[in-house]
Amino acid sequence: MAREKIVIVDDDDFMRDSLLEALNRPSLLLKGFSRGKEALIELADGSASLLLTDMRMPEMDGVTLLREARRLDPKLPVVMMTAFATVETAVEAMKEGAFDYVMKPFTAEVVDVAVNRALEHRRLLVENEFLKNELAKRFQLGHFIGKSPVMQKVFEEIRLAAPSSATVFIRGESGSGKELVARAIHAQSPRRDKPLVKVNCAALSAGVLESELFGHERGAFTGADKRRIGRFEMADGGTLFLDEVSEMDLGLQGKLLRVLQEKEFERVGSSETIAVDVRILASSNRDLEKAIENGTFREDLYYRLNVISVELPPLRQRKVDIPDLARYFLARYRQEEGSRVRDISPGAMDILCQYDWPGNVRELANVMERLIVLGRGEVIMPVQVENSLSKTPAARNGSSSTHSDTAATVYRPRPLDEVEREFVESTLRHCDGVRAKTAQVLGISERSLRDRIKRWQDAGLFPVI
Ligand SMILES: Nc1ncnc2c1ncn2[C@@H]1O[C@H](COP(=O)(O)OP(=O)(O)OP(=O)(O)O)[C@@H](O)[C@H]1O
Ligand SMILES: [Mg+2]
Repeated sequence: MAREKIVIVDDDDFMRDSLLEALNRPSLLLKGFSRGKEALIELADGSASLLLTDMRMPEMDGVTLLREARRLDPKLPVVMMTAFATVETAVEAMKEGAFDYVMKPFTAEVVDVAVNRALEHRRLLVENEFLKNELAKRFQLGHFIGKSPVMQKVFEEIRLAAPSSATVFIRGESGSGKELVARAIHAQSPRRDKPLVKVNCAALSAGVLESELFGHERGAFTGADKRRIGRFEMADGGTLFLDEVSEMDLGLQGKLLRVLQEKEFERVGSSETIAVDVRILASSNRDLEKAIENGTFREDLYYRLNVISVELPPLRQRKVDIPDLARYFLARYRQEEGSRVRDISPGAMDILCQYDWPGNVRELANVMERLIVLGRGEVIMPVQVENSLSKTPAARNGSSSTHSDTAATVYRPRPLDEVEREFVESTLRHCDGVRAKTAQVLGISERSLRDRIKRWQDAGLFPVI
């Protein structure tokens, strides 16, 4: 174990030497100084476990040293040594955050007890901090599945981005996990004990969104019968997540830009300026560069938001994650639904892995839920997955599926080529991958079937069956 470092400060050489002797033991690293200034240099890197200091010293006195030392390391316990005459100052020092004080003259045992208590206190603080960090990490990334290299990169980006207050722009298709990224960043940031406030910019009209973000004064508009604080104020000290920020109206974009630049704003209907300390996370499933070109998104705002960007790849580009995700949702829904389904057959898993998941992880979650709710046996079989997938509302048009969708009856406009491709794929599966049989069923030549499949596979649109 590393030795615990104790910094001892006393201008009286005899006193300092006696302390160095009294506390001399293998587990401790003792550093003696006659002046506070020198001690501060030793304390600057935060590696000391305890500061033991005299009260009355020329140049820098004990209380000043205490204050400076705790500014360098707020968790540093400080024990003051004081003569009877300065006892009142010692009490003052306790108010300033000293851990304890001992009165001169003292015996070796008295110092020993005070030192041990202070060190124990420090150990607990350090351990608490460590556990809190571990918990934050586990809580978030534990349920955030992704062993694929692309997701590992996302996790690394989250780890790097979390500690700062920089704005993070999270992009990814619908259902790919953008909100999960926002939560992970907040949970790993120093702001984790403060609120994470979310605003869905697509769900509210411009006027409502403005008063939602900035709040309003009583009488600011018809129906404003009370003063209301906005999300920016609610998130003070914490994080504000602007979901689907691309849908925000241009006028409001200008106001948002100002808050990002100046960290202050006014409530609707008020001239009082309010300052906030809020970290912004924003997400979009749309191509913002295109929105800038079309003039629906401000370029200056884009640069403000895009300080750090995290790009979530669509699920079809990280198919190795599908088995873990499927098993994770199986465990989760099985428990929630009290279902007897306990496993997925390898064939069923294969089909899940080959499917393209246009609705990304959310679509997979919905399919698993359906399989678990409707499952009769203990093991999910391939045919059930086939049925389930043909019913999935497939968020191909960018909208996300919900639990209650009955997709089989939903009309969804799409190109004939896509319909043909899917039909050929399911026929091929139905025929156990035998092409001759498939061609026969479809009423086309084997050669024609082969050409089609090759064309689709070259374009990355067709699985290898
Ligand atoms: N890697 C993952 N591991 C575990 N669960 C995930 C993962 N990615 C997404 N999910 C789950 O999938 C669902 C959709 O994720 P989320 O809401 O974060 O997506 P989104 O990108 O914000 O979607 P939208 O654009 O529609 O708002 C959530 O239930 C989420 O918990
Ligand atoms: Mg979302």
